[in-house]
Amino acid sequence: MKIERRIIMKENRITKILGIKYPIIQGPMAWLTDAKLVAAVSNAGGLGILGPSAGQTTMTPSPQETMERMREEIRKTRELTDKPFGVVIIVDVDMKFTNPLLDMIIEEKVPVALVNGVAGMDFESTFKRLKNAGIKIVFRGEPTVENARTIEKLGADVFVATGFDEGGMLPGGQIGTFSIVPLIVDSVKNIPVMAAGGISDIRGVRAAFALGAEGVFLGTRFLATEEARTAQNVKELMLKTNAEDLHIFRTLPHFYRSIPTKLSAELVEMDKNGATREELFLKQGGGKNMKLGMLDGDENGYISVGLGVSFIKEIKSVKEVVNELMADFID
Ligand SMILES: Cc1cc2nc3c(=O)[nH]c(=O)nc-3n(C[C@H](O)[C@H](O)[C@H](O)COP(=O)(O)O)c2cc1C
Repeated sequence: MKIERRIIMKENRITKILGIKYPIIQGPMAWLTDAKLVAAVSNAGGLGILGPSAGQTTMTPSPQETMERMREEIRKTRELTDKPFGVVIIVDVDMKFTNPLLDMIIEEKVPVALVNGVAGMDFESTFKRLKNAGIKIVFRGEPTVENARTIEKLGADVFVATGFDEGGMLPGGQIGTFSIVPLIVDSVKNIPVMAAGGISDIRGVRAAFALGAEGVFLGTRFLATEEARTAQNVKELMLKTNAEDLHIFRTLPHFYRSIPTKLSAELVEMDKNGATREELFLKQGGGKNMKLGMLDGDENGYISVGLGVSFIKEIKSVKEVVNELMADFID
């Protein structure tokens, strides 16, 4: 695709708040991020985020061990970049995993926290601790008007409005990116909104800005880059996949999509036959089967991608992807 520069922007609230060159974030993706990918995004001028099980091939039930593994990945990231990057913080019910991770990222002086969680969690104390430590808060949870207003009041620096077009766990509201972004932009008072879901080329970036977003938040596009640890056969499969090909099925809490695999075909069949969400969730097998499908490239797992997979035609370096998507921004 030939890219002509249109909107020329130098900096905006997102680049200023996060201390980055371009208003683009690589979102956390369970198993699929590591120091190499995150540093590549940050070195390219965006913000990389270490997601759950970053750099790992096994899971541990221990909160302490989970935290120490993340500390190691943070240190590896620092060896590869001196630019800002982020770490995901999932706020859980009993804070068993959240608290050790919070203590550690404060100790390690990580510049940005991408806070995740469902309504009703203790965001207030988490935000207070992060703010006191000078860590910027980007929040991405269920994209509702009420959540956006509450999270802004609690002191988040940025709210991510995620549309149903996204990869990963789909939002319950089932509202597409085109509709959710302006709704959230109109709901907050003073903080900038980033758009997530289905953005894989510059047309998506321009649309997001036209809708009032001040930055873009991507997952799927970064999975098919040279630096990503996605299995090679999955990267290649992504190039041949169109949004129309994807399987979608109910699960907990809402829905999931997959590039067709043996497992996703079985899930679609179970869904059609009226299985409960609990049964589907059990069969889906959570992160374990995402790792199997996407890191190991095994079709007994599933392959989560967003609808923007249609526009990914080449495996490129992270730098090439960022430069293409951010062609309207001048250094
Ligand atoms: C394979 C995959 C795994 C993901 N895992 C997580 C996760 O563990 N935590 C999270 O907050 N978001 C997760 N996401 C969502 C991304 O951070 C991001 O919001 C989303 O990918 C944006 O939509 P896009 O894929 O259409 O660009 C995941 C997305 C994908 C594709």
